[in-house]
Amino acid sequence: MINKPRILSGMQPTQPKLHLGNLEGALRNWVKLQDENKLYCCVVDWHALTTMADDPSAISENSREVALDYLAAGIDPERSTVFIQSHVKEHAELHLLLSMVTPLGWLERVPTYKEKRENLTAEREAYGLLGYPVLQAADILLYKPMGVPVGKDQAPHLELSREILRRFNHLYGPVFPEFKNIIGEVPLMLGLDGRKMSKSYNNAIYIQDTEDETAAKLKTAFTDPEKIRKDDPGHPEGCAVFSLHQVYNLNNIHTVESECRSGSRGCVACKRECTEAVNESLRATRERRHQIDRGELENLLHRGASEAREFASQTMEEVRGAMKLR
Ligand code: TRP
Ligand code: SF4
Repeated sequence: MINKPRILSGMQPTQPKLHLGNLEGALRNWVKLQDENKLYCCVVDWHALTTMADDPSAISENSREVALDYLAAGIDPERSTVFIQSHVKEHAELHLLLSMVTPLGWLERVPTYKEKRENLTAEREAYGLLGYPVLQAADILLYKPMGVPVGKDQAPHLELSREILRRFNHLYGPVFPEFKNIIGEVPLMLGLDGRKMSKSYNNAIYIQDTEDETAAKLKTAFTDPEKIRKDDPGHPEGCAVFSLHQVYNLNNIHTVESECRSGSRGCVACKRECTEAVNESLRATRERRHQIDRGELENLLHRGASEAREFASQTMEEVRGAMKLR
């Protein structure tokens, strides 16, 4: 078998389901990448603990649900390795070793850390939150990937991973190759309220939603507030429904846009058309999700962890060697 370039990415199982923003913005890109690359698709359950340590009981089930969403989106377990971070203990070992060469100042500058920390009392501000990017660096470096596909918001984390990598190589020798950010074409997907689609805003449509749930949600979606009567001319920019048309009804997008602007299309009909387009595009994905049996999923995650461990344990041998820790 020819060695394909490796790619690693991960998502946090803070919720039991991924939404259409995750699907179109990230997973679709991963699926495309698996033709030319060997993908490691990680569910980063330890990272979820940085916000769920008070009650971690949901994380295990969430992780399975996220893995199901990966598979439903078209991650092919025959070619790609799907696994749960905590099943591969090498992530913890490398995290510990990298933590020894990561200056505190680098971590304190990370924007997501600064944001999260503002909402916490000193008492609740855990060491793990500060170390979040070190754990992420470990996730990445263990697999010596050529690239890491992520959203733009992750750029500071990846930059930090790269700085840790360089420091490690400088101190102990060239163990880790540089990797690049793979920023896919990410459509701007608005949530039902017109803000960015996000699980925390409660404005998302989920892969797991049924067709009826999708229809009901779209009925409540935010549209142009100046378009009151159906023949009022509208402004599609900023309309949540239009942003979904742009992804799921691209073939008709010019018609949707000109009819909205001219007032020959009403929002009710527009939403109906949008619902059909969304449901139709998602049908195969949703069906695939239902077809995966739970026992099968457990086997697949078990196999994924063994495959990941096989690579990760070799890296750790090199790391221990470079650090003279035998
Ligand atoms: N921080 C990432 C996020 O919130 C999740 C993550 C953890 C990750 N480890 C990773 C992403 C490694 C890519 C590679 O989305
Ligand atoms: Fe949005 Fe469609 Fe209404 Fe225009 S017609 S404002 S695109 S829902």
